[in-house]
Amino acid sequence: MYNCELLRFMNITDKQGNLTPVEGNRDIPIEIKRIYYITNVENGAIRGYHAHRKLHQVLICLKGSVNIKTLNPKEEHIYKLDNSYTGLYIGPYIWREMFDFSDDAVLLVLASDYYDESDYIRDIDNYMKEAKHRF
Ligand code: TYD
Repeated sequence: MYNCELLRFMNITDKQGNLTPVEGNRDIPIEIKRIYYITNVENGAIRGYHAHRKLHQVLICLKGSVNIKTLNPKEEHIYKLDNSYTGLYIGPYIWREMFDFSDDAVLLVLASDYYDESDYIRDIDNYMKEAKHRF
């Protein structure tokens, strides 16, 4: 079990534009308690560099593009998010790094719980120690 996967949502397109619905516990495997979004990322900046102990998240790049590296102690993957109808589900104990944000990138994050700094593991060595027996 890798604990991280791409999800494809419905994309309803017509002459008036595109619409993508995302329903908690239906289109994504989590109930949504919080959303946040990342914009205006400086060229070359890398965000993330952490894992969560309990939090589940779905990342959707609404505009532009971003690359996301995810890893657990056994596997590593790089995903490119570049459309508004694909989500990247990231479960507990997955280390993530977001990089190569396009200038216009808008990254929406759907989260299963409220913000809680004590749920973060921000040091990769500590992460490896805590995560190694889970995968
Ligand atoms: P962080 O999760 O480290 O951002 P990223 O992983 O994208 O680099 O959060 C950056 C800062 O914002 C940090 O000081 C915590 C704060 N923050 C909140 O106050 N509430 C939130 O919901 C989130 C996600 C972050």
